[in-house]
Amino acid sequence: MCSSLIAKEVTESLLNVQRMASRIEKLSHISSGQGPGVTRLAYTESDERATQQVEEWMIAAGMVITRDQFHNVIGRYEGTDVSAAPVVVGSHIDSVPEGGAYDGVLGVLAGIEVVQELSTRGMRCIRPIHVMIFRDEEGVRFQAGLIGSKGFTGLLREQDLQLQDEKGITLAEAITALGEDESITTVIVKQPNIASYVELHIKQGPLLDEYKIPCSVVNGIAGAARYRFKVVGNPGHAGTVPMALRKDALLAAAEIILAIEQQAILHDSLVATVGHLSVLPGASNVIPGVVEGSLDIRSLDEQLIKSSIATIIQVCEQICRLRGVDVSFTCVGYSPPVQASKRMISLIESVLAQHKITALPLVSGAGHDAMVMGAITEMGMIFVRCKEGISHHPAEYVDISDMEVALDVLFGVIYQLANDF
Ligand code: GLV
Ligand code: MN
Ligand code: MN
Repeated sequence: MCSSLIAKEVTESLLNVQRMASRIEKLSHISSGQGPGVTRLAYTESDERATQQVEEWMIAAGMVITRDQFHNVIGRYEGTDVSAAPVVVGSHIDSVPEGGAYDGVLGVLAGIEVVQELSTRGMRCIRPIHVMIFRDEEGVRFQAGLIGSKGFTGLLREQDLQLQDEKGITLAEAITALGEDESITTVIVKQPNIASYVELHIKQGPLLDEYKIPCSVVNGIAGAARYRFKVVGNPGHAGTVPMALRKDALLAAAEIILAIEQQAILHDSLVATVGHLSVLPGASNVIPGVVEGSLDIRSLDEQLIKSSIATIIQVCEQICRLRGVDVSFTCVGYSPPVQASKRMISLIESVLAQHKITALPLVSGAGHDAMVMGAITEMGMIFVRCKEGISHHPAEYVDISDMEVALDVLFGVIYQLANDF
């Protein structure tokens, strides 16, 4: 079907942005935190409650839902060719601690709204459309991230199932706890056959706000590596061990963190973050004996990620040698940088042009399930302006008029992907 015909068919949009906005609001209250933000760590009770709520909305929109072994949710809206590879639109609904209401959620609910519009009109596309919720995108609980999308695409490693949260619960146990009786024992999956993947997501940075553009197209996503490091020194009495005889793991960790910052600021295109530390035994009158920390390092340049990690490990080993403590680094997650497919970029640009939006090509520093899906199919992303680019924060906010435009654009993109792409 040609695009001008499609444009005519859908001029009277029934997309219900108010319904989507009130659903976003409703989900924001499904949280296990005490503060004003959203706290829905992966595979926890609040995450599961929110997932079940979204499943209800999928069913109401005319989809048939299933879950895979990682409890990713697949909402299928049948096509006229039931054997055709589906178009997938998805994102995540887990959050960081005290995060915002839109990160991930907007993409999932926008996908549902597009399907709702099709089913309300009694329209079927040629290809089936799958709306997906990927579990554990954020990676807060197990410090790895993109677990669901990696599981779905067969990119999860067997050892990832043994990753532990702070309470010692493994990823395998957390996933199994959601099921009735099936325990997860393998990461092996049948490679899904998918025609294309599109993800709509907030722009977690100020560019769209600065240029006053409601939404635009993403060219590429920075690669990200996540490590855990462990410094082992000697605990002891804070009052009796002289300074010169101490092997304080936290002092070594402090130097490590500053060394990581030094490495990152050497390169404009590299960012590195130590976002989590645990200090053991963790008492004010005991010299820290063990420190465990996280390292998140990102760039669009894969070589730079690799060489910086090698240098960081070398420098940190040297710091620890001088302090007489041990250090080890373990990689818990790696996703290479990815480019969106050229065909998807031009399709999104053409739909943006139909809505009189000049495409501002964007690069994502944040990770997205799209970077994993890009390994198995053509991938495209649409970013939506969010106020001042604030994200991972309770103040995250998207104006309803931007959501309305973004929904229209997503509808146009999915419609073409599912019919004549
Ligand atoms: C997810 O938001 C990430 O970029 O880590
Ligand atoms: Mn996100
Ligand atoms: Mn996020």
